[in-house]
Amino acid sequence: MKRVALVPGDGIGPEVISSALRVLREAGFDGELVEFDIGYGRWSRDGKAITDDDIEGMKECDCILFGAITTPPDPDYRSVLIRIRKELDLYANIRPLRSSRIDAIIVRENTEGLYSGLEVLGDEEARTVRVITRRGSQRIAEVACRIASERRHLTIIHKANVLKSDVLFLRTCREVAERCAIRYDEMLVDAAAYNLIIRPERFDVMVTTNLFGDILSDEGAGIVGSLGLCASANLGDRWALFEPIHGSAPDIAGRGIANPVGAIRSVAMMLEWFGEKGRAQLIEQAVERALSKGLKTPDLGGSCTTAGFTDAVIDEMRRAAA
Ligand code: NAI
Ligand code: MG
Repeated sequence: MKRVALVPGDGIGPEVISSALRVLREAGFDGELVEFDIGYGRWSRDGKAITDDDIEGMKECDCILFGAITTPPDPDYRSVLIRIRKELDLYANIRPLRSSRIDAIIVRENTEGLYSGLEVLGDEEARTVRVITRRGSQRIAEVACRIASERRHLTIIHKANVLKSDVLFLRTCREVAERCAIRYDEMLVDAAAYNLIIRPERFDVMVTTNLFGDILSDEGAGIVGSLGLCASANLGDRWALFEPIHGSAPDIAGRGIANPVGAIRSVAMMLEWFGEKGRAQLIEQAVERALSKGLKTPDLGGSCTTAGFTDAVIDEMRRAAA
């Protein structure tokens, strides 16, 4: 039986996760859910946001469904999500971008590049080492090609005209794309940032390094229209973590008005990862139909509640099944 580690987290995390779970059950998922109380709430109570036991427990599950966690600006607090990504080696960050203007997927390398941690900060000079490895580039390119093989094409996004490290990234991605017989093109990251706004429809699957992917992903979420609409997956070879891209939104927590679409789409991505494509599509299509009927939470200018929008998605799923 499939086992999912459930991390509702802080703020609106538990609110959107509860919607996502209703949809997951409606889709007929009958796996086991193992809940983990980790995050800022836990830290405030007992001084630990996450323990070694929690990590071990997560490793006994197939994947993690994650709400959102508050990260306080406290120098003693280590980011929980970064620790999980590292310990489970979740090296591929996947962000689908879907709206009337765009239908694309960003595949971001999640472990190296400018986030290598190799850095020094002095008063007069500071350095950060940008690490690109053949292995790191190869495995992210393979994930991107696997996704692109079921879609239209791949764009390799880089800055190899200036950065030697990206010469290796670009070469390696080309090799993988050619070996996998994927149609691909290449684009400099600055041009990609521009084109994403001017002609978002020209993109399909994009693969890029850590920092570029971080920035382009949020730019992409802006093109989609709300943080609350986007989901993401962090994939490794053994485990995966699925989460809406937004944070814990303390400004609206407890009011029942958070947009649950990002969390619901995260569940669809999880089902797809489990190989249950039909169920994933049922959910995606229900979300799209509910949105196209004009149902909206306040972040999109509407007046639906979290529960109300979730009811509508479940109605659409029942209608499709009938
Ligand atoms: P945020 O994403 O929580 O909120 C930004 C703005 O978007 C807020 O005005 C919020 O109300 C709105 N918003 C976000 N999600 C929404 C939704 N589903 N429906 C409607 N409106 C939504 O980012 P912020 O405010 O920078 O961070 C708040 C806390 O969340 C911080 O402690 C931050 O560290 C943490 N955070 C956690 C993340 C995670 O767990 N993956 C990701 C980003 C931030
Ligand atoms: Mg980010």
